[in-house]
Amino acid sequence: MKIIGSYPKTRLRRLRQSKWIRNLMSENSISNNDLILPIFVREGKNKVENIKSMPGIKRYSVDKLPLILKQVQIYKIPMVALFPFTPDNKKNNKGTEALNRNNLICKSLKLIKKKFPGIGVMCDVALDPYTSHGHDGVIINNEIDNDETIKILTKQALLQAKMGCDVIAPSDMMDGRVGIIRSALDKANFKNVCILSYAVKYASNFYGPFRDAIGSKSKLKKNKKSYQMDYRNSMEAFREVALDLKEGADMVMVKPGMMYLDIIDKIKSNFKIPVIAYQVSGEYILIKNAIQNNFLTKDAIIESIISFKRAGASAIVTYFAIEIVKRLKKFN
Ligand code: PBG
Repeated sequence: MKIIGSYPKTRLRRLRQSKWIRNLMSENSISNNDLILPIFVREGKNKVENIKSMPGIKRYSVDKLPLILKQVQIYKIPMVALFPFTPDNKKNNKGTEALNRNNLICKSLKLIKKKFPGIGVMCDVALDPYTSHGHDGVIINNEIDNDETIKILTKQALLQAKMGCDVIAPSDMMDGRVGIIRSALDKANFKNVCILSYAVKYASNFYGPFRDAIGSKSKLKKNKKSYQMDYRNSMEAFREVALDLKEGADMVMVKPGMMYLDIIDKIKSNFKIPVIAYQVSGEYILIKNAIQNNFLTKDAIIESIISFKRAGASAIVTYFAIEIVKRLKKFN
């Protein structure tokens, strides 16, 4: 790029000298419309509990979901992502609770679609909240079996669609699942249900607090490196995205977020498709703890979210969603 102008005629600080001109010149911004809030659901009645690994985040029993959904409505956050905390006695090695028509996700979907029809709902398609070993798929001969797992995931996706899920989000990283799920949805006449594929999901160290929140952390044997991506790679992300698009994905997710801004940028510039970033639990607690200790100010949250927009994300899944909109309101 050719540099135009030189000092002293050109002074870039002129455009930074006061708030109004900085606002006028700003290249990126965030609003409520860019945010997706994850919500954790638990069993029981009248239960709202703190999650130890994620300060400020709670698990709600289904009857208490309206507490948080009202906030989502007030702050006009377009979509929520549901995650279940399944009690141990409902977990087994095949994750069959995923297919129970009365599981936590199904109950939550029914409630939201009845009482909060204006809120979009996204659901993970993966077995880790339901398996006794904490993996996203079924284990056969000591490995996570791709094709057997897809059979179950397809049923899980169909059940979620039937219960009113708007956006099906396969987060399992099995090969070929997007195409099979898309065909099954179409065949069952769910042609308008979207697929947000977790196309680029790294085997990351930053999921720890989340795994604790859904109760899979202490269960997990070994790691997820045989299906989630190696964090040393970026070219591989293109193949993942290209395949998922061919199979019918409407949008793709990059996850985690902040450590992978280069990937978001590359995918956006190459494919020109909606890319969603997931600011994961490990990123959340880094920022949250630093703010609580007064090492960072709250504006660090906004900075982190703007970085996703700069990189090219269309929307961001973040545990800070409500806090962010409150803060934006205060400043506008
Ligand atoms: C499960 C899933 C994970 C997250 C979202 N869906 C964890 C994992 O793959 O182990 C992580 C989210 C977060 O850390 O905030 N398939």
